Amino acid sequence: MNLRRRLEERLSVALRDAAGVEGLPAMVVPSTRPQFGDYQANGVMAAAKKLKRNPRELADRVARRAQADLAELAERVEVAGPGFINVHLRREWLAGRLAELLGDERLGAEVPEHRQTVVVDYSSPNLAKEMHVGHLRSTIIGDALVRLLEFLGHKVIRQNHVGDWGTQFGMVILGLWHICMARHRGQPGYISRELERLSALSPGDEPARRTEALRPICQRHQEDLDADPDGQKVFYPYLRALLHSRELTLDDLLPAYRFVNRVETLAEGTELTVNSPPDRRPIPLSGVSRYITTMLQDRGDPRNRQEGLAWRYAREMSLEACEEIYRRLGVLLSREDIRGESDYHSQLPEVVNELASAGLLRESEGAKCVFLEQFKNKDGQPLPVIVQKSDGGYLYATTDLAAMCYRVRHLHADRILYVIDSRQTLHLQQVFAVARAAGFAPPEVALEHVAFGTMQGADGRPFRTRDGQTMKLAWLLDEAERRAFELVSQKSPALPVEQRRQIARVVGIGAVKYADLVQNRMSDYIFSFEKMLALDGNTAPYMQYAYARIRSIFRKGGPGTGDLSGIEFGLGEPAERALAVKLLQFPETLQAVADDCLPHLLCGYLYELAVTFTGFYESCPVLKSDEPKRSARLALCDLTARTIRTGLNLLGIETVEQM
Ligand code: ARG
Repeated sequence: MNLRRRLEERLSVALRDAAGVEGLPAMVVPSTRPQFGDYQANGVMAAAKKLKRNPRELADRVARRAQADLAELAERVEVAGPGFINVHLRREWLAGRLAELLGDERLGAEVPEHRQTVVVDYSSPNLAKEMHVGHLRSTIIGDALVRLLEFLGHKVIRQNHVGDWGTQFGMVILGLWHICMARHRGQPGYISRELERLSALSPGDEPARRTEALRPICQRHQEDLDADPDGQKVFYPYLRALLHSRELTLDDLLPAYRFVNRVETLAEGTELTVNSPPDRRPIPLSGVSRYITTMLQDRGDPRNRQEGLAWRYAREMSLEACEEIYRRLGVLLSREDIRGESDYHSQLPEVVNELASAGLLRESEGAKCVFLEQFKNKDGQPLPVIVQKSDGGYLYATTDLAAMCYRVRHLHADRILYVIDSRQTLHLQQVFAVARAAGFAPPEVALEHVAFGTMQGADGRPFRTRDGQTMKLAWLLDEAERRAFELVSQKSPALPVEQRRQIARVVGIGAVKYADLVQNRMSDYIFSFEKMLALDGNTAPYMQYAYARIRSIFRKGGPGTGDLSGIEFGLGEPAERALAVKLLQFPETLQAVADDCLPHLLCGYLYELAVTFTGFYESCPVLKSDEPKRSARLALCDLTARTIRTGLNLLGIETVEQM
């Protein structure tokens, strides 16, 4: 049991005995100032108030009782102020615990009493679109939680719930079609030219004006369609060739996607149509991609069919783009972790059936809905969770319910974490509530929305490039590395350039991740390269530098500093003692992070550790001391370095030996 929990338990027992009432928490936390001891219990005042007793007198009884109980580890348990209880740990006990840590790979983290299967849904970008900063946050936070829970001994199953089934695929397939047709006509520049031309228009313009501008596009669309109605002559052969040569990239695909999006938005409210094969049915120009999506979905699994070629291609291309980001971030996600929306498609009718059998379904305007007590709109009217539209189409929520069944029934999850931005809070509350009501997730399975706020630019608005486009993540990482390279080159110009590059990568990527993790995930935060790369304050470079500095002590120390086992810690100096207490708080910090999925608690702890270490290093000479002090202090250095490195690694951040 970690130290804080152990104290909490003992002091709560003492409080129970002193008060004669069960269930009052002692509320033990690390003390904020040395004069308040190492830990303080804050719960006595609240208990006294509740029981209408004198807090000081109650605290006295608790302290006396706890003193006897904790004699082995606490030197003094005393009452302070109106009824705080301060615990001063015994120096010998601290020294003994430290000696144990020296040989412990896990730095004191215990194996959990109940090993849980934890499913972590994170990253989950929408394919065929570019990954945005929201997905970046999910990826970084999710990966840190995965590493931490695994380290604590749980079985962690990563799930990348990619959006590979939505209407954006209709758009991308149509975009691919336009690309192939333009190439076939010998006009590969068609799409960018037309995009440029359309940029002069806006959806608010008169329909007549928009119709005029779109007419040539519509006519050409029809001609191409008539010349190759089933795609066999031009589209599929071209696509196959492109697929084979791999000459088409996401950079070609995105303008095509934008082109389709633009055409369809501008065509809204016009009379323009194209006659679609096989029956030449007129489809509004504004709805062609929706039509393609429905066709694709109606025909079932696109994996093994020719029509699925475009889908597979688009999916593959954007997966590769995501993987490039994953590789650079060094996250654990791999192909095996992908279980996207398309994987659940075949299970959706069954989900709806089960909801019906559970008596939860009601029809409303042709749609199948679940109405639950707890969801009402502003006027107090019941708010439905729609699971199937009147046209038979399924929704985002239906897929999430299918995913829930899979995770509970096949993956045997005890706990499911959804690392998704806070704008989806209502969606998840609804999914969780329906899943509980339908029995998809029994009460013993924990469902948690690990929500997070938005990343903003310096102007306090959602993060974008200057021209208003959403920021390319690859650019963001490039820029972080570039700036880190400058930083390293300033600090250590003598290092070979290759080594500086390597350090810059670790520092730059680390800075982006740390800047995200150091915030309470619920708050919005302002992205700033300057701030995240600052060498002072709670930043990645500061922490990485603190680590490298300690390692340099060992390089200077020469031989004889390798084996530190069997050391006796004296802890005679207050600064040594303070460092010892901090080091022992690592396991309880990890536990707190795991309990509430709050990585910033670990960042905060590591920063305090580094600051405490600095205090120690300033007042306690290490290499210049005599034995046995020298070895004991080296051992403190070693434990600090290991704790920082392990802590950063659990956040998904690397360290370097020299900076
Ligand atoms: N693809 C979704 C989006 O970008 C996120 C999916 C999150 N996971 C889930 N199970 N809903 O908004």
